[in-house]
Amino acid sequence: MVERTLVLLKSGVLQRRIAGELIRRFERKGFNIIALKLLRMDRALAEAHYGEHRGKDFYEKLLDYICSGPVIAMVLEGEEAIPLVRALTGPTEVLKAPPGTIRGDFAHRTRFNVVHASDSPAAADREIALFFTDEEILPWEDGNARWF
Ligand code: CMP
Repeated sequence: MVERTLVLLKSGVLQRRIAGELIRRFERKGFNIIALKLLRMDRALAEAHYGEHRGKDFYEKLLDYICSGPVIAMVLEGEEAIPLVRALTGPTEVLKAPPGTIRGDFAHRTRFNVVHASDSPAAADREIALFFTDEEILPWEDGNARWF
């Protein structure tokens, strides 16, 4: 089933100059980028996005981290995009993230785990709507246009 999912390349990705490498991995897998923006998340957006973690011991530091620098938000579309994108990111806990996954290759602290990806269709719908208006989402098909 074709799905849409929200991906955040978190604070620090731009400073580390790895944004292109991470986007390349999603493109290489075959997903369509159908929305993309650079933004600095404010506290209200961070609280809305991470509301399910309110009260956990890492919650405040998670908000500090995600608000500490610009992030790249993207909507990716493709077959089974939600589980497949999470397979590319690897598990949240960095000790469990195998080499070859984004977290396995680029993160060594769970708090600073480089990337966020929606974990269910309901989460994807909710998270996409937090970051993008309907007009900012531009689905496309390969078609037979000549691009080169
Ligand atoms: P993310 O996939 O964006 O969703 C919630 C985030 O909370 C997660 O990535 C981590 O950045 C952070 N997080 C989850 N568990 C922990 C933890 N045990 N310690 C610190 N940060 C965590």
